Formats: sequence, structure tokens, C-alpha cells
Amino acid sequence: MVKVDKEKCIGCGLCPEVCEKVFFMNKEGKADVKKGQENENSQEVKDAIECCPVDAISE
Ligand code: F3S
Repeated sequence: MVKVDKEKCIGCGLCPEVCEKVFFMNKEGKADVKKGQENENSQEVKDAIECCPVDAISE
């Protein structure tokens, strides 16, 4: 289950760039997981997890 910790996210915007299928920036400027994409576990999701500078994404 892909999740973004909104407390940790600093809104750098990298994860939607790496994996726009799953992530988007919400109106608070934090990353969020698109509806229905919570169970995606592609390599792109793993890449997004790796590139987050504050380790805010988990699966
Ligand atoms: Fe936030 Fe990390 Fe994405 S800081 S915008 S969850 S890459």
C-alpha cells in the first residue's frame, strides 16, 4: 500500500515527476497518492521512494 507521510513531505515535487501514474501534488502542496493507485508496486514507485529526500513515501 503506497502512502505519503504528509508531515514529512516538504513538497519538493520529485515523486510525481518520477511516477506521475501514482503521485500528484495536492492543493496543500504535498504529494498524495491518486485514487485507485494505492496498490501499485511498479519499479517507478520504488524509484520515487528512493528519490524522496525526506523518506516520506512508504509501501
Ligand atoms: Fe514530498 Fe518526497 Fe514527493 S518530499 S513531493 S513525498 S519526493
